[in-house]
Amino acid sequence: MNAMTDTGHEAPGTMTPLVQRPAWEALRAHHADIASAHLRDLFAADLTRGERLRAEAVGLHLDYSKNRVTDETMRLLVELAEQSGLRSHIDAMFAGRHINISEDRAVLHVALRMPAGSSLVVDGTDVVAEVHQVLARMGSFADRVRRGEWTGHTGKRIRNVINVGIGGSDLGPVMAYEALRHYSDRSLAMRFVSNIDSTDLVEATRGLDPAETLFIISSKTFSTLETMTNAHSARDWVVRALGEDSVASHFVAVSTSAERVEAFGIDSSNMFGFWDWVGGRYSMDSAIGLSTMIAVGPERFAEMLAGFHAMDEHFRTAPFGQNLPVIMGLLAVWYRDFFGCQTVGVMPYEQYLKRFPAYLQQLTMESNGKHVTLTGEPVQADTGAVYWGEPGTNGQHSFYQLIHQGTTVIPVDLIGFAKSLNPLGEHHDLLSSNVFAQAKALAFGKTADEVRAEGSAEAVVPQRVMEGNRPTNVILAEVLTPFRLGTLVALYEHSVFTQGTVWGIDSFDQWGVELGKVLAKQIAPQLLCAEEPQLDHDSSTNELIRLYRRLKDT
Ligand code: F6P
Repeated sequence: MNAMTDTGHEAPGTMTPLVQRPAWEALRAHHADIASAHLRDLFAADLTRGERLRAEAVGLHLDYSKNRVTDETMRLLVELAEQSGLRSHIDAMFAGRHINISEDRAVLHVALRMPAGSSLVVDGTDVVAEVHQVLARMGSFADRVRRGEWTGHTGKRIRNVINVGIGGSDLGPVMAYEALRHYSDRSLAMRFVSNIDSTDLVEATRGLDPAETLFIISSKTFSTLETMTNAHSARDWVVRALGEDSVASHFVAVSTSAERVEAFGIDSSNMFGFWDWVGGRYSMDSAIGLSTMIAVGPERFAEMLAGFHAMDEHFRTAPFGQNLPVIMGLLAVWYRDFFGCQTVGVMPYEQYLKRFPAYLQQLTMESNGKHVTLTGEPVQADTGAVYWGEPGTNGQHSFYQLIHQGTTVIPVDLIGFAKSLNPLGEHHDLLSSNVFAQAKALAFGKTADEVRAEGSAEAVVPQRVMEGNRPTNVILAEVLTPFRLGTLVALYEHSVFTQGTVWGIDSFDQWGVELGKVLAKQIAPQLLCAEEPQLDHDSSTNELIRLYRRLKDT
């Protein structure tokens, strides 16, 4: 038994090192045995494989039979999870212990979706009660905007809502707005500004009447350069048209810092708070979701939270072998560390989920792109893969070629729904046929004999052979609803958690993004100043700055 800390999970230094865990060693030997096994043979030898290697929870169905695994692989992966302290780490997160070790913080996005009336006391405070107080304030504000009761400075109804934020303060809101657009109030134009590139703000405000426009300045820290620069420019845009005292009617803030919000000039009564135990990339269901709530209304937002919570409960309680996020997380470790796969494709066959892959990039890569363990030792295995993707079927006509016939194995998650929100003729069945066809083609490919049997000229048989043995997860659900979106996002959140726990890393800090920010702050004055600056960077950076200054002066 490993020693426990007062955070309720194994003391980082006492955990058996990853590569010495018996399950890891067993998986290494097992991988040598099955690495070359082909999915064609695995299916041929086991006629019920497709019926067995699947799991269902809260209306999400996961078919993982087309992965390069056997029952033995899954058994060993579950053992690895157990030997990595996953159970106690889950319990520690749900108990509000400080599992974000490098920032000494609890990790409690799961509290954001606990039902009213439940309770989670952390450091003497019932955080669930606080969450529901903020939700109630958000709800009444969203309703006032939606009913036209919250008016702009001149008394005009708000027609445009612009969320200004970046990273977790943007990607979640944009993704959720796009995902739930079907349920949104179409009389409101929702826009999102993230990039410090002025084009983003200029295009977002183009043609809009400031008197009808509400800005939500979303920033956990309220100090992020991009967001604060955009917020000031947005403020100028409003003030130029409507005067200084219009700010209160056209700006609200979402942040953890009341002090900075007030310093910006937004009254704290127009601020919606959250807490340092919500990581930016885990914040779309906190007040950062205010734009989502305005778009779809408080009831739909509550349905989304219920979806998150349903998956949280599944993750917290289901045995690992039937636990969707655990299965997906362990498969991700299997491919990353034993097959050396560097990327994972996520392809939603649902147009409304077009921003889901971009959202997942921050969730997965900012969380698990780490090179040291919780104790600061170099991590002994490769960590987070690169996540990427596009909606199907579009990707099939651009990059799928490489997934099918390239020289590298890319595990793919295919996400489909049985019903369209916009049924039109045969579109939806034709779309869905591609989900199943891609999974089948990737797994089984086409042999040289099959190509020849089609009458192919011998000279092009090699080009037409499809190796197959390309792994997929197929995730299937009935229809995209707010509840379903919540379950889907929580599925990936907890898959990330599972992977991070096995690797023994802190999935909740992001120190790697700091250095670039600091350097940009040093370089900015050297681009802005009129006089030629004294430069003492490396010779490449010096030259680039000089070239930039020459080009901008021409
Ligand atoms: O730079 C990365 C990051 O800190 C993300 O983790 C975060 O989601 C984003 O910036 C925005 O931060 P904030 O909400 O504090 O503006």
